[in-house]
Amino acid sequence: MKTRLLVGAWLICLTAFAQPRKEINLKTWEFSRDNQSWNQVNIPHDWAIAGPFDKKWDLQKVAITQNGETEATEKSGRSGALPWIGEGWYRTTVTIPQGYETAELVFDGAMAEPRVTINGKEAGYWAYGYNAFRIDATPYMKAGRLDISVHLQNLEESSRWYPGAGLYRPVTLILKQQTHINDWSLFARTIQLSQEKAEIAVDMSVEGMAEGVTANFEIADNQGNIVASANQLDVKNGLVNTTIQVKRPNLWSPESPYLYILTAKVTKDGKTIDVKTQKIGIRTIKVSRESGFQLNGISRKIKGVCLHHDLGPLGAAINKAALIRQIRTMKEMGCDAIRTSHNMPSTWQMEICDSMGMMVMAESFDMWIYPKCKNGYARFFKEWALKDITNLILNHRNHPSIVMWSIGNEIPEQWSEEGRQISKQLQGLCHALDPTRPVTQGMDRAEDALNSGFAQTMEVPGFNYRVHKYENNIKQLPQGFLLGSETASTVSSRGVYKFPVVPTDNSQFASYSPNYDPTALQKADGQCSSYDVEWCSWSNLPDDDWRCQDDYPWVIGEFVWTGYDYLGEPTPYDEYWPSRSSYFGICDLAGLPKDRYWLYRSKWNTKEHTVHLLPHWTWQGRKGETTPVYCYTDGVEAELFVNGKSQGRIRKNPTERLDRYRLRWNNVKYEPGEIRVVAYDAQGNKIGEDTKRTAGKPVALVAKTDRKSYRADGEDLAFVTISVEDAKHIPVPTCDNELTFSVEGTGQFEAVCNGDATSLESFKQPHMKLFNGELVVVLRTSPQAGTIRLHIKDAKRMLRPTTITIPTQR
Ligand code: GAL
Repeated sequence: MKTRLLVGAWLICLTAFAQPRKEINLKTWEFSRDNQSWNQVNIPHDWAIAGPFDKKWDLQKVAITQNGETEATEKSGRSGALPWIGEGWYRTTVTIPQGYETAELVFDGAMAEPRVTINGKEAGYWAYGYNAFRIDATPYMKAGRLDISVHLQNLEESSRWYPGAGLYRPVTLILKQQTHINDWSLFARTIQLSQEKAEIAVDMSVEGMAEGVTANFEIADNQGNIVASANQLDVKNGLVNTTIQVKRPNLWSPESPYLYILTAKVTKDGKTIDVKTQKIGIRTIKVSRESGFQLNGISRKIKGVCLHHDLGPLGAAINKAALIRQIRTMKEMGCDAIRTSHNMPSTWQMEICDSMGMMVMAESFDMWIYPKCKNGYARFFKEWALKDITNLILNHRNHPSIVMWSIGNEIPEQWSEEGRQISKQLQGLCHALDPTRPVTQGMDRAEDALNSGFAQTMEVPGFNYRVHKYENNIKQLPQGFLLGSETASTVSSRGVYKFPVVPTDNSQFASYSPNYDPTALQKADGQCSSYDVEWCSWSNLPDDDWRCQDDYPWVIGEFVWTGYDYLGEPTPYDEYWPSRSSYFGICDLAGLPKDRYWLYRSKWNTKEHTVHLLPHWTWQGRKGETTPVYCYTDGVEAELFVNGKSQGRIRKNPTERLDRYRLRWNNVKYEPGEIRVVAYDAQGNKIGEDTKRTAGKPVALVAKTDRKSYRADGEDLAFVTISVEDAKHIPVPTCDNELTFSVEGTGQFEAVCNGDATSLESFKQPHMKLFNGELVVVLRTSPQAGTIRLHIKDAKRMLRPTTITIPTQR
């Protein structure tokens, strides 16, 4: 009774100070693994990324049936060999400023099974660790204070990759008045588009309706000028919908990611009581038999990459600077789309894709009812799938970057009528919540999916790998086109080259190969060759995908597996310890480009020329040995010189698998010195050259930052690439010395990564070995502006140390 009186008095007091909403990013929390001893942490936070790496974490004895395995074997490192399993607790207290009547918590994702308690009462639960969810905290508010605690639990064998652990995405508290906008109800979409005008349909619902409530919408251009509006709209039964015209619209595309700002305002008796702003883009999407995939009425083939959610040495804890670096590096390669495999993306990542110009396939599930791993999402699907799809779409449907939804990846139910029915239901739900975007899913068993009608059901039939089946698939698809929803799975380790160069599906290492050699794993080194000719039994090379895209008009593009290496799934070394991260990346786990980056760039980046030579040219004991040289270029012809001697001018050959998109000199004999290539376009004009030189003894450390300026806000990250050079400033590509780092000034050491999938050194300790001459140190800025000084030393004092000075600004 007493409490009720107190709350009542407090609400009266709030109403007197009524003001539009306030959104608070809840950053500071206490964290515990045992609910007894607590540490202060900032979120986003991943409790497992500091390690230590250990084979025992999530050690599995399983057969990976998706990879064609029939017998269970020991898999170490499958989910990253990091301590993410078990329980975790977070707690924080918020004092609510006066003047607000309702409170809502928005979790952008919490790993996993978050159970939220507010002021001692259970307030909400969500099963899936990747999805955003909202909790109405209003009923639990006590005298302006919220004691929030979150319990998380991660089960062993619940993931096929490293899921991370903890409050790894932001938590926001939104304070509003009794009458307010339901945040996820606001939906703006382009329904008509011409050069002269765009028609934007806008829907919104208002909660806690009262007499005298009206709504306004304004659309401003990117300079803040209001270009269109709709005023004094009636809110009928809590709903508003209208159409707004924008004259001569600037369209959103990867090449020109123009964003408008939509402001939704709710007024009561002439007073503003809630305002919500939302960036939007004007653009249309269509898929059709005649024109394939079209953005703004223009057909284009998707040049996409799949990305897992982890950020290498930062783990799953998201950070804007790290996400921006990922997208920037991919865009510079010519990539125009990402697939958020195999789960819901973070809101920050989608905002970055909107503003930088990156199309997105936003995915949801890696399994439905039938499990791919013992404790995976299959435990929840029946009860949660519709709720999960609903949150995915409501949370993200205003992002212009998202061009399609995906309801699943390699779902085991592909062969069945049950699977077809579920596809129809989930696709229907996507359309009901968002009529503007096509729906897809990635299928790996083409025959099954075509026989059951599963594939024919999908608006965009997506096929994973098995390009040799495309021609057969298309004959059975009424849609008249197909998407390479997952392609390549070519494997390589940055800076590793193996001789002789043998195109292979990794048969010498892997138990799933028919030629399994049981001694191979003992002989293996846990690395794959960067000649980019190694793939998996189910997959292929980039060249195979491009052949299909170039020769078949009905292939609407691809999503390469993957843009970056990720933690877990160390195929082809699933059974080899210590291997704990992937080899599939175009860039390594540190974000450094492998040679494959230049292969994709040569095909995808149509604005700049690419001329890239491999391998490096510093080989001990290879004098006179056959050492093939490859050039990745958009040119059609090139001449290679070894120490000035021509090795021949050769031309791309469209009839040979490996010569259509690469230039290869297979019989070059190694001699120290230099290799130089000069590349030409179809008209015989020189487009560029590249040189690799033999390095002498490593002498000095070199450091380079990823950007020119950094914000002093405690959030921004500087990525510093460290390399080694000889006395003549030639990079030494083989150096693996242990380095140590110390930081002074207005920043701190955050993480380090060398891209070696077999390294067990912690990402969070300020020392690490170079891997093939490189590594990346990550520094976090402080909130104070000033200068960060990073000192880099060779642990054995063999190399000249270096210091890099990084200014930060407010
Ligand atoms: C696919 C799967 C991906 C990844 C990949 C590795 O079949 O969808 O998640 O496992 O194989 O090649």
